[in-house]
Amino acid sequence: MCANILAAVAWPYANGPRHIGHVSGFGVPSDVFARFMRMSGHRVLMVSGSDCHGTAISVKADQEGLTAQQCAEKYHRVIANDLQGLGLSYDLYTHTMTDNHAEVVQEIFRTLHTNGYLVKQTELAAFEAGTGRTLPDRYIEGTCPICGYDDARGDQCDNCGRQLDATDLINPRSKTTGAVPEFRETEHFFLDLPALAGALTQWLDTRSDWRPNVLKFSHNLLEELRPRAITRDLDWGIRVPVEGWQDDPMKSIYVWFDAVIGYLSASIEWARRSGRPDAWKDFWTGDQEKSYYFMGKDNIVFHSVIWPAILLGVDGEGDKGGQPSAALGQLDLPTEVVSSEFLTMSGSKVSNSRGATIFVGDFLRDFGPDALRYFIAVAGPENQDTDFTWEEFVRRVNFELANEWGNLVNRSISMAHRNCGQIPAAGELSTADEELLEASHHAFETVGDLLEHTKFKAAITEVMRIVGMANAYLSAEEPWKLKDDPVRRDTVLHVALQVVSDCNTMLTPFLPHAGQKVYQALGGEGVWAAMPQLVEVEENGRSYPVLQGDYASELAHWGSEPVEVGRPLAKPSPIFRKLDAKLAETGPQWAPITATES
Ligand code: MF3
Ligand code: ZN
Repeated sequence: MCANILAAVAWPYANGPRHIGHVSGFGVPSDVFARFMRMSGHRVLMVSGSDCHGTAISVKADQEGLTAQQCAEKYHRVIANDLQGLGLSYDLYTHTMTDNHAEVVQEIFRTLHTNGYLVKQTELAAFEAGTGRTLPDRYIEGTCPICGYDDARGDQCDNCGRQLDATDLINPRSKTTGAVPEFRETEHFFLDLPALAGALTQWLDTRSDWRPNVLKFSHNLLEELRPRAITRDLDWGIRVPVEGWQDDPMKSIYVWFDAVIGYLSASIEWARRSGRPDAWKDFWTGDQEKSYYFMGKDNIVFHSVIWPAILLGVDGEGDKGGQPSAALGQLDLPTEVVSSEFLTMSGSKVSNSRGATIFVGDFLRDFGPDALRYFIAVAGPENQDTDFTWEEFVRRVNFELANEWGNLVNRSISMAHRNCGQIPAAGELSTADEELLEASHHAFETVGDLLEHTKFKAAITEVMRIVGMANAYLSAEEPWKLKDDPVRRDTVLHVALQVVSDCNTMLTPFLPHAGQKVYQALGGEGVWAAMPQLVEVEENGRSYPVLQGDYASELAHWGSEPVEVGRPLAKPSPIFRKLDAKLAETGPQWAPITATES
């Protein structure tokens, strides 16, 4: 049955280029899922954009001598380029600086306010001396009051592991300027999470099929819900739509509140851009659609608790009751929150500082998108923190992608081209032929089921098992020795090409670029796997790129399509380039492996 599926992908901060850890969390898994769902005949809406507000952007802008807007525009462009290069099939990748986004965020804020889920409270907070900006806890350093460690952060001490409040630090200082922060009272709007806790718990109890790590984490959070500030003293962000606040340039909406609403605002923007302004509702209201949210594990709380709480409050479903917004109507909560663990490098979380960091742009330039996509899918941090090493990358690319899959494609098509010039017909099938074809057919069900349940690693491993079977089959049947028995030779080649075609279909969600090439090498024409396009758009006199795509017209469908006997075959060129084995020892120049002290 055809469903409407929202693939909601976490919004990367526009404060620098993204590294491979980022895209292994939100990027590749969401794209594999969206592509598979489209191939299975579902309507998919995949949205995201650059997260452009908040302290992370302000700090970076100051460092670069840019305004926050210039900084966000600069990195939005870099990130959009990288995501396009990776082939992530967004229906819309936008950013949070649009008028539309601000309007939707303010509408949600007002509805929560009207429904009684926002409370004003005064708190003691840290300010950056000089600018009057909020200084978030993690940007404050000082001496830990518990263990005496000198570089403790305002939110926690990395030495003793204790959670801290910035006000507890001895000799506090701003991490960016070194100045002593000012602590003073300030008034903010808080989301009344306790008033939504009952409804949240009830809802979360219905989500029993989520990944266990996400469920357990979320249930724990529900036990100590406190009101949470959703405004900040900051000049960079969306205005607070309340009288007396609206015109205060130093008050803005908290970046996380604004960012999660991006899923909705981007869906609305997509609908407008595609000329059917109400089309977003197919993915947000009613009970026919499903929504899947993709992210790294540091984002779970915002998607499994805060965003659902906002939606429950907007829908009027917490202790205070209330009415849905007239403009937006009743909005659906996430069907599933799919979170990855971290991709680490040599034991530490991949950091954003040059040197140890592997940026997506560098990676794509040197190795292309599908090698990275393959690595992330087969060896990425789906269920546990995983260390990226060049050694493992080289091994996976050379011995699996190139030797196993690339070689199967190349030798099957080359032999058929050389001996027949076309896809040959099969004669009578042997048991070995039938067994291989049967395994390959059956895999569509097994692999499809795994993909539907977001088990990407198991899914690609199963396809690669079929690839291995096909290679073993060719080695056993030795069609190159069958010159004197052309009927048998052609039968073996036919079977091999059928399995190449099947495996290519199943690998297409993972390797869409290679998928297109293999499809063409098998004589196919037209767009097999559609790619996102960078389109330059304008708003308020400023130009910025968005990603869009026409995915409905792609030809790839989930299922075994019989290869067409008689279709001409050209001599194939290798699909995957082998990597220089030295790379495993040295790393590339731009992310060299440095000798570790022993
Ligand atoms: N910008 C955040 C990060 O990089 C993710 C925001 S996801 C969304 O960690 F929910 F806000 F969209
Ligand atoms: Zn400490």
